[in-house]
Amino acid sequence: MTSLPLRLRITAWYFAVLATGFALFGVIAYYAMRGSILETVDENLQDQVQGVRELIERESREAELAHALREIEEIRAGSDLLQVSDPAGNWIYRSRTMAQFGPAAPGIAGASITTQQPDGVPLRVLTIPVHAAHRTYIVQVAYPLDDFHEALDRFRRVLFLCSPLLLLLASAGGYWLSRRALRPVDQVTREARSISAQNLSSRLAVPHTRDELQRLSETLNGMLERLEQAFRRITQFTADASHELRTPVALMRARAEIALRRPRSDEEYRETLQQILEDLQRTSSLIENLMLLARADSGAEALERTGVNMGDNVGEACLEGRSLAEPKQISLLTELPQSPLWIEAESNSLRRLFLILLDNAVKFTPPQGRITVSLTSSDGFAVAEVRDTGIGIAADDLPHIFERFFRADRARSRHTGGAGLGLSIGQWIAQAHGGTISASSKLGEGSVFRVRIPLARETGQ
Ligand SMILES: Nc1ncnc2c1ncn2[C@@H]1O[C@H](COP(=O)(O)OP(=O)(O)OP(=O)(O)O)[C@@H](O)[C@H]1O
Ligand SMILES: [Mg+2]
Repeated sequence: MTSLPLRLRITAWYFAVLATGFALFGVIAYYAMRGSILETVDENLQDQVQGVRELIERESREAELAHALREIEEIRAGSDLLQVSDPAGNWIYRSRTMAQFGPAAPGIAGASITTQQPDGVPLRVLTIPVHAAHRTYIVQVAYPLDDFHEALDRFRRVLFLCSPLLLLLASAGGYWLSRRALRPVDQVTREARSISAQNLSSRLAVPHTRDELQRLSETLNGMLERLEQAFRRITQFTADASHELRTPVALMRARAEIALRRPRSDEEYRETLQQILEDLQRTSSLIENLMLLARADSGAEALERTGVNMGDNVGEACLEGRSLAEPKQISLLTELPQSPLWIEAESNSLRRLFLILLDNAVKFTPPQGRITVSLTSSDGFAVAEVRDTGIGIAADDLPHIFERFFRADRARSRHTGGAGLGLSIGQWIAQAHGGTISASSKLGEGSVFRVRIPLARETGQ
């Protein structure tokens, strides 16, 4: 069943529900009709017997009674199925038709109403004992049911013949309707099938029907939008990465080619090799960063987090940062708390995050500047701030600094050697610890980078 196309499944369900409905309707209608016919017949019989009972109660002589009974039988059409007997089974009166088709004298009997077929004709027979003048008479009136049975049979035949026909017609209608209703789904499927990496910017046509189909198309379009953005990010990343790699490789090649153009002194060769080595170091750190981001994107870079005192971690990063700051005579001040702040972290990654911030602070702060690193706790978070008195970041650039390969001043950054990956890696590290990183800055005055990492629930591990 599940392998059938949806429209066939809908039709099959429609058919099953309709067939059950028809069957139920048929059975109920048949029995209701039968019940109501019998009720009418029974009421009729009760009326007739009432007349006979009054007559018997009025007439005390038996001979007169038979006469009177014959009279009412002749006057009242339809009441020719009447017989009256005494408890011993002797006939007091028996109409002609009753003599032909009616049941035998019942003898002593209580009141009853039954359907009998004594002589091939179905009869509804009402039996009532009537007491009058110390005598008891058994009165029986009957009504032939053959017409009714015939009507019921006809009704049954009509039901049996028409139901399958109606069912077939309704199912065909159901199939047609479901095909019609599902045609737009086919259309969406066809359109969706034609979208690939080459035309990821195309969108499905959205029917303005305010129904499931509109929602489906809009949802698929939303998904395409997200896919396109992700795809564009990846293509951009690949393009930027190859560009960043090509520059140092071209540089190293040019250095080597120039050096080999004519014979050089040992000193000159050494100098060239030294420069190439520096380029190589920068390039391999760039490759390492690229690979880290690629692993982070694919979800392969999982952190092994343990209980870490964030104060110790920031302190260690500052120690390394100091060796970066010293050559530029930048002072590095630390304001770390006395008591430990426990967080769940991978200490190497976390140290790397602070080194990225310190490296930037040193890089973008003129000599004799000042960098302040502070750590506090607030609202269940450890909050670290790296503040510098550097060149600052323009308000237009601030929203972009965490983007990959973003550098506010490309020329200056090329000189300082950065690829613009530091903060993207830093942001990934902060997020991988369940935290956030944000920045505020004033051009010409300095910048503040704020890292918030949730405190571990159980402290003092
Ligand atoms: N402390 C800061 N002061 C001023 N500008 C900054 C600061 N930190 C970052 N920026 C700006 O944000 C840009 C992106 O920083 P990011 O660390 O991502 O790249 P980078 O330092 O240029 O290169 P990389 O970190 O890959 O060596 C920087 O190029 C710079 O323009
Ligand atoms: Mg950097």
